[in-house]
Amino acid sequence: MLTYAVTGAQWGDEGKGKIVDVLAEKMEAVVRFQGGNNAGHTIIIGGKKHVLHTVPSGIFHQGVLNYIGNGVVLDPEEFLTEVEGLRAGGILIDPRFLKISRRASLIMDYHRVIDKARESSKSAETKIGTTGRGIGPAYEDKASRFGVRAADLLSPERLKERIAHAVAEKNALLKHLYGSTALIDIDATVEKYSRIGEKLAPFIVAEEQAFLASFAGKKILFEGAQGSMLDIDFGTFPFVTSSNTVSSYAFVGSGINPGGLTENIAVMKAYTTRVGGGPFPTQDPGEEGRIMVKKGMEFGATTGRERRCGWLDLVALRSTFLVNRFTAIALTKIDVLSGFDTLKVATAYRVNGKETPHFPTDIAQFAAAVPVYRELPGWHADLSAVRKFSDLPSEARSYIAFIEQELSTPVPIVSVGPGREQILFTRPIG
Ligand code: IMP
Repeated sequence: MLTYAVTGAQWGDEGKGKIVDVLAEKMEAVVRFQGGNNAGHTIIIGGKKHVLHTVPSGIFHQGVLNYIGNGVVLDPEEFLTEVEGLRAGGILIDPRFLKISRRASLIMDYHRVIDKARESSKSAETKIGTTGRGIGPAYEDKASRFGVRAADLLSPERLKERIAHAVAEKNALLKHLYGSTALIDIDATVEKYSRIGEKLAPFIVAEEQAFLASFAGKKILFEGAQGSMLDIDFGTFPFVTSSNTVSSYAFVGSGINPGGLTENIAVMKAYTTRVGGGPFPTQDPGEEGRIMVKKGMEFGATTGRERRCGWLDLVALRSTFLVNRFTAIALTKIDVLSGFDTLKVATAYRVNGKETPHFPTDIAQFAAAVPVYRELPGWHADLSAVRKFSDLPSEARSYIAFIEQELSTPVPIVSVGPGREQILFTRPIG
């Protein structure tokens, strides 16, 4: 078995979808292993934009199996809408090549309601700025064993039992904690999801053990969502998502046995962005940050929110590289940095007057961190038409070499624009 992981090294939105799409051509399977439709993976093919939320980014390649693993939280209604949208856009969706684990936890209507009610009850400082997709409440139900799984949709009695079990607690929460008068009706919910289940059935794996066994000897790409700094354990807790986004989770979240990764690819932007709440030491609230927002079109693919922008943060990256042990970097959006005379890169933080190269795991210390910058020369040439690494301006090559050296990891993939063809490889991958 050859296994490749493509995961985000920052706070998400690194451009993973495009990298997965390009590499998927050489794969037999693309596997999502965590997160849900909080993700927004944008892929531009022949000038046409496609945004994927739950469907894996291998879907544009015929004959590639796209698998939504047990570690994903799946909103069945939104999944069906996404499939319809893709079909309407002329993409062939064959349920034999798009499969959902029987063990995937479902995002139900009431998870979205609770996600939003909880966020609105918080202060500006404590708001996480979730995508409102019900991700956290669905993972909570998985951990507390109140959850509904994909396979439950296939059995009406079981579905009713699971929903009734969960809803009693949800209604108490909505009524007494969030003061809501619109409570969840068990029968209507069961009816709605039974209908959804009929449509979803062809996509749900029939026999999971045999299905998982069929991955043996295959070439598989694991597609991460969000980024390592949003990981529930290793990210900037509590301003994180509710799943493990690091590459080692690929095996847990799919049931594919951990034979070690053939290639463990970090996708990172040449600068940093963050959407939602939480500290962001290298954010540039001034003119240069505005330029990044505009040139990089930094608006969320799922929520449309403007992303906060700033300089590359090697302190945060060192911590994510430590956890993931990446073997290669796909550096994206380097074209956005054209036009700056100098580029700033954070190489250390000053926390309470003391300089440190280490990422503070305590959120209060992280919030107090002031970046220590190294300045590197910028370039002015437009990079969007560059197709060979050697055609990049020398300053851009030096910027990349600096990253390679600081993170002790090679950069064999450089992306210079959103299009499929706007990518440079210094060595073949896959
Ligand atoms: P949730 O995943 O919707 O619970 O949101 C938790 C945090 O993760 C918020 O700050 C979101 O903005 C952020 N987040 C979730 N998914 C993504 C993503 O795909 N890209 C970037 N940020 C994300």
